Amino acid sequence: MSDSAHVARFRELLARLLGWTFADNDAPPLAGLLRDRADDHGMSVGAYLARLASRPWEAELSVLVERLSITETYFFRHGEQFTALREDALPERADARSSQRILRMLSVACSSGEEAYSLAISGRQVRSDPDWIIDVTGIDANPAVLRKADAAWYSAWSLRETPDAVRRRWFCPDDGGFRVVDEIRRLVRFRRVNVAESGDGVWNHGQYDVIFCRNLLMYLTPAVTSALVERMTNALAPGGYLFLGHTDSLGRDPAGLELRHTHRTFYYRRAGGPPPAQRISSLPAPGESSAVAPEPGTPAPRMDDDIYERSLDLLRQERFSAALELIAVPRTGMPGARDQLLHGVLLAQSGRLSEAIELARRLSEENGLNADAHQLLGLCLEDGSAVAEAIGQYRLAAYLDPGFALPRMRLGQLARRQGDDRVAAGELERALELLAREDDERITLFGGGFGRLALTVVCRSELDACAVRP
Ligand SMILES: C[S@@+](CC[C@H](N)C(=O)[O-])C[C@H]1O[C@@H](n2cnc3c(N)ncnc32)[C@H](O)[C@@H]1O
Repeated sequence: MSDSAHVARFRELLARLLGWTFADNDAPPLAGLLRDRADDHGMSVGAYLARLASRPWEAELSVLVERLSITETYFFRHGEQFTALREDALPERADARSSQRILRMLSVACSSGEEAYSLAISGRQVRSDPDWIIDVTGIDANPAVLRKADAAWYSAWSLRETPDAVRRRWFCPDDGGFRVVDEIRRLVRFRRVNVAESGDGVWNHGQYDVIFCRNLLMYLTPAVTSALVERMTNALAPGGYLFLGHTDSLGRDPAGLELRHTHRTFYYRRAGGPPPAQRISSLPAPGESSAVAPEPGTPAPRMDDDIYERSLDLLRQERFSAALELIAVPRTGMPGARDQLLHGVLLAQSGRLSEAIELARRLSEENGLNADAHQLLGLCLEDGSAVAEAIGQYRLAAYLDPGFALPRMRLGQLARRQGDDRVAAGELERALELLAREDDERITLFGGGFGRLALTVVCRSELDACAVRP
């Protein structure tokens, strides 16, 4: 077998044993690791691969997980999700559990434990009465991070997003860092579980009120992702909540789950259970609706289709002022989302950035599900050098419409600029896949004057330039 055939076999085995998917750019570091591991066992690469494939090899799998997994995490990461948890999901679940007085939560891919302890603290904040049981399980395949989770000691850097009052109440200074107080440690236990296996004990039907599974799905193969999502959905009580990472989307209509949007974040609620509290709005599946809903009985006046098409043509020809003049035909009432979007793009392309930002903000606030409005806002903010905010908007656009290539492409390009080649490669690969099917109108609106082919070439060359490390 050639070197590249060995690496291909190694990738196949990592997909089968751990559910991992790798970009083509990962091949060189994987080849290095493969040689290292075979040498370590005094085996040839071929013999090592055959041994890995033939029967369980727990100790070796642990080494591979420790060497290859990305374990970055910190307390209260993506704070808006914890706010939604505390203010909406947990109070609702506590009402549903008032007779049992127990809240059960699961942190999937908990890494060194920060997420699991953050869940326990949030549970205690919502139900402080010790009569209430807060029960949190953290699972991960990586034994090294689980040892750290058990020790419950963290450096100040892990608490960088933790409010001072929370730090004072739930941590004690210890040996230059912080230790989680025993009152919280007692609520949390950690288990080694590989999500690529069905793993007994943690996936019992209907047992959790809340599951967090963040920043894992992006590393998994589609087959392992869908098996895991199904397992998590079944393990939620009816009306229980699933929180995923910012870049994880479950597509248009995940079976048994409804999408929610509060506190500027998205999450899912398992169908059934008591009706959700009034303040939580139920939303259609991602990508389902991107039009601003008009008031009942007052349909938003649409630009004549002919004017719209002619303005798009002018945009293609980069004749922005002519297009702006054409759409400036006076009409009564507020224009619909399609027309406003085109107006916003033309304003941005003409350099009228603050007007474009104002319009895009209004559009995305009117309908938080309008993926195009978030994309436009992202492009305008990026032009205005508000890159971090732009990234948030691109993530929302990609989240709301998993088939939308252009936000993925910008996310990939920005990640590359920030030196994060691993994220960049993932986003650019996905963008390349989606670009072939991208809607023509979106390419005109958001392609910055590039056609599909040119965008594909740019995407491919950025991807080739990524030097991905394991
Ligand atoms: C980036 S961390 C996520 C930490 C935390 N959920 C967060 O968002 O802050 C990803 C974790 O996934 C774990 N992981 C990767 N593959 C896994 C698998 N097959 N089964 C269980 N855990 C896995 C890694 O060990 C790592 O700790």
